[in-house]
Amino acid sequence: MLRRLHPEQPESFAFTPENLAWAEAQITKYPAGRQASAIIPLLWRAQEQEGWLSRPAIETVAEMLDMAYIRALEVATFYFMFQLQPVGSVAHIQICGTTSCMICGAEDLVAVCQDKIAKKPHELSADGKFSWEEVECLGACANAPMAQIGKDYYEDLTAEKLAGLLDALGRGEVPAVGPQNGRFASEPASGITSLTEYRNAEIKMNASAQLAHDIGDTVKRIDGTEVPLVAPWGDQTGGTAGRTAPPPHPKPAANVPADKTGVDKREAQALEKAHPETDVSGNAPNTEDEATPGTKPQTLDAPRDGGADDLQQIKGVGPKLEELLHRLGFFHFDQIASWTADEVAWVDENLEGFKGRVSRDEWVAQAKILASGEETEFSTRAKKGDADD
Ligand code: FES
Repeated sequence: MLRRLHPEQPESFAFTPENLAWAEAQITKYPAGRQASAIIPLLWRAQEQEGWLSRPAIETVAEMLDMAYIRALEVATFYFMFQLQPVGSVAHIQICGTTSCMICGAEDLVAVCQDKIAKKPHELSADGKFSWEEVECLGACANAPMAQIGKDYYEDLTAEKLAGLLDALGRGEVPAVGPQNGRFASEPASGITSLTEYRNAEIKMNASAQLAHDIGDTVKRIDGTEVPLVAPWGDQTGGTAGRTAPPPHPKPAANVPADKTGVDKREAQALEKAHPETDVSGNAPNTEDEATPGTKPQTLDAPRDGGADDLQQIKGVGPKLEELLHRLGFFHFDQIASWTADEVAWVDENLEGFKGRVSRDEWVAQAKILASGEETEFSTRAKKGDADD
């Protein structure tokens, strides 16, 4: 599709003072001479403010970033997320027409747009409130067919549901975002069949939909006054007053370790994977972080006489975890059985690569049974050799 500037252009463009402050703060993220890296966020902000990108808007952004106009035009015309023509004053509807959505009814959704908005994509409706287009996969295929309306996704649509959404938007309402068929997220339409214990029926919206609902700016133009500006570098106060440019990123000097392991962090992680029993300085890993939550339980330097218990009788403990537990100083069921909640928190945090397993698999309850000489359902199966983990 040819993406060209619209034949009718406004005389000028200017960011609102708040959006200008936001844009200037974005530019400070990049080192001197690299301001062009801020092109996409600035163009996007201009579009959020006006609904579409006019030539004056693109040129204003180019000037702010010290770029040739043609470079900014190249970006604006390349990415489909940038609208190069006026869009509906209320909403621009983007219908996904890619495979999953197409076989689940995207064509019906397009028909609704043609019927209620305009025959052709990118044309304004008679009242100027809406426009629409068909777009490529928006990554919500499990909830096909779907549409992006303004900033949010409306999923599991039908022709009737989309028509209802357009009517609601036309009345000035902001319909609930997310799945429109009662689904929580992208679980099976007939309901979840696993991890049911993690589903809290009191939570009605998935996290993405909830956040979108709370922000409530789905189809709003952004002039910078409606949301607190989150400036770069963690300054939550908004605006640029008093803001100084961030310090340049320190570059590692030759032969100077980037952290206490003596090498850079990526190398440390790679070495840790290759040699889990030692850290890169050749020492046993220091698993006791000062910031670790909870309380460290009592440990043993070695198993008591008679040897260690077979900790793999605890469901969730495999050979690696057993080895890790030994390194931490835990060899016996009764040690684990005596952990308090605070101690469980400490161990959970210190099971590198397996964080949270103690609570998840209820080791303490299992260990209490095993320490008393009884068997658990899992240990019985494990002894017969048919346990699956
Ligand atoms: S095919 Fe429509 S979201 Fe992927």
